[in-house]
Amino acid sequence: MKEFLNRIIDQAAALSLEYKRQLQSDTLTVNRKSQKDLVTEADVAVERFLVEQIQAAYPDHAILGEESGTHDGNDWRWIIDPIDGTTSFVHDQPFYSVSVAVEHQGKMVLGAVHAPVLGELFMAERGKGATLNGQPIGVSQCAALSDAVLGTGFACVRKDKPHNNMAYFPKLMPIIRDVRRYGSAAIDLAYVACGRLDGFWELNLNLFDMAAGMLLVQEAGGVVTDFDGTAEGLPGCITAANPTLHPLLLAALKA
Ligand code: IPD
Ligand code: CA
Ligand code: CA
Repeated sequence: MKEFLNRIIDQAAALSLEYKRQLQSDTLTVNRKSQKDLVTEADVAVERFLVEQIQAAYPDHAILGEESGTHDGNDWRWIIDPIDGTTSFVHDQPFYSVSVAVEHQGKMVLGAVHAPVLGELFMAERGKGATLNGQPIGVSQCAALSDAVLGTGFACVRKDKPHNNMAYFPKLMPIIRDVRRYGSAAIDLAYVACGRLDGFWELNLNLFDMAAGMLLVQEAGGVVTDFDGTAEGLPGCITAANPTLHPLLLAALKA
C-alpha cells in the first residue's frame, strides 16, 4: 500500500504541475468557495485522479476528499487534500502540497505530503518512522521558545470564526525567534517533522489539512495535540513540536 501511495502521489504532484503551467499562461479557471476560499481546476482534477486510482485499487475503502466529500466504504479510509495551499498555488508560489493519509480503524497508518515545485516527498508509516525523499527525518532539538522558529496559519474563514489566530499570534510573536507562514498546513507539519520548523500551531483546520502531516510529526519523534494537550479538539486547533518544546508552546498559547 505504501508503494501504491508513493506512486499515485508522485503522479498527482506531476498533474498539479501541468495545471500550474496553465496558470502561468493565464488559462486556469479559479473559482471561489467563499470570498477568500479559492478552488481551481487543479484542485478538482488532482482529487479526481486520486479518487479514481484508489477506487480502482481498493474498491472497498472509504475516502474523504476535500473537493468530493465522503465516499463510503469499510474501516479503511483515504483522506485527501489535493492541493493544500491553493492560495500559494494561485499566486505562483512554491509552497503548496498534495496531501494523502490512510486511516485504518480510526488510526492514521500512512501519510504522504508532496511539495511538487520543491521536489520533496515526505512519507510516514505508523511505527516505521518518517522520511524525506527516502531519507529518515526527525524533529528539531530546540528546547526554548526564544530559539524557536514556528509555523502558523490564518484560516481563510477567520473573519467568520470568533475563535481565531488573531488572539494567539500576538502572544507567541514577541517570545519566539520568528514565525513562518508557508500557506500549507501539510507543509508546515512536514517541516516540523524534518526539523526545519521547531513547532506549529493553527486554528480552524480540517482533517484533510492535517491527517498526513500529523503522522509525519509523530513518526519523526514529535508530539501533536490540540491547544489543551489532548486530541479532543483535533481537527480544529492543532499544536505540533518536539517533546521538549511542545509543553512550552501549549503554556504560551494558554497564557
Ligand atoms: C489551507 C492551508 C493553509 C491554512 C488554511 C487551509 P487549502 O488549505 O492549509 O495553510 O492556513 O487554513 O484552509 O484551502 O489551501 O487546502
Ligand atoms: Ca487544506
Ligand atoms: Ca485544498
